[in-house]
Amino acid sequence: MSSPSNHDPRLDQAAASDESLLAAHEKVLGKQPDEKAKYKLLPLNLLFLFSGLIFFAGTYLNRYSGLFDSHVFNENALPTPAGAATAVKVDPLVLGKKQYEAICINCHQANGLGLAGTFPPLAGSEWVTGSEERLIRLVVYGMTGPVKVKGVEYSAAAMPTIGKVKDSAYNLSDEKVAAVLTYIRHEWGNAGAGISTEQVAAIRAKEGDRKPYVQDELLKLP
Ligand code: HEC
Repeated sequence: MSSPSNHDPRLDQAAASDESLLAAHEKVLGKQPDEKAKYKLLPLNLLFLFSGLIFFAGTYLNRYSGLFDSHVFNENALPTPAGAATAVKVDPLVLGKKQYEAICINCHQANGLGLAGTFPPLAGSEWVTGSEERLIRLVVYGMTGPVKVKGVEYSAAAMPTIGKVKDSAYNLSDEKVAAVLTYIRHEWGNAGAGISTEQVAAIRAKEGDRKPYVQDELLKLP
């Protein structure tokens, strides 16, 4: 017969009440390590560092991205063909008109007719459309004494020194002198060929610093 001596201790547990089981589990679970406790807040310096980097990157792109336009910097671009001027070419007539209106207009007037008895005309003048050697010299260095223009003699005033030479009233660059001469040879029905910057530079290099011309000196030139 069964004896109380072969008693299975596991059976004791089965008899444990629900409350005691729950309490036992709770005890064990309560000791589980809190995983979350291992996380730390992001250090504030890192937050500042990254905000700074993002700000810098934004500013950099804004300033240097060129709106991501392929024309801003294109390393595959073909070299510009010769002739397709790297610098925008200035129209000598436009530049010349500007010089005329800033300087010459005061004496030779807007219509190029000058003032009777004082300032000789440029419109229809043989000095303007004729010899380039004489015209460039008299404008770069100036001119004094009597001058005959279209059959009329003028001697009341002097033509000022315009070019970049000693005692010049205006110190105009060769390019600007060439432009204004091209302009007066083209305006008011005048039909002379344009004058180049090189022509003006060559004459300035040849004559150096000298005093204004008189009519006779100029008439000896071709
Ligand atoms: C202060 C007044 C004055 C200014 C400014 C002036 N000129 Fe004259 N210009 C004269 C006078 C006066 C003469 C005549 C000189 C003489 O009698 O020897 C003359 C003569 C000339 C002549 C030769 C004569 C003729 O009528 O064709 C030319 C060309 C000329 N000037 C062009 C110019 C140009 C171009 C400018 C502007 C860059 C200019 N002048 C600015 C007063 C001026």
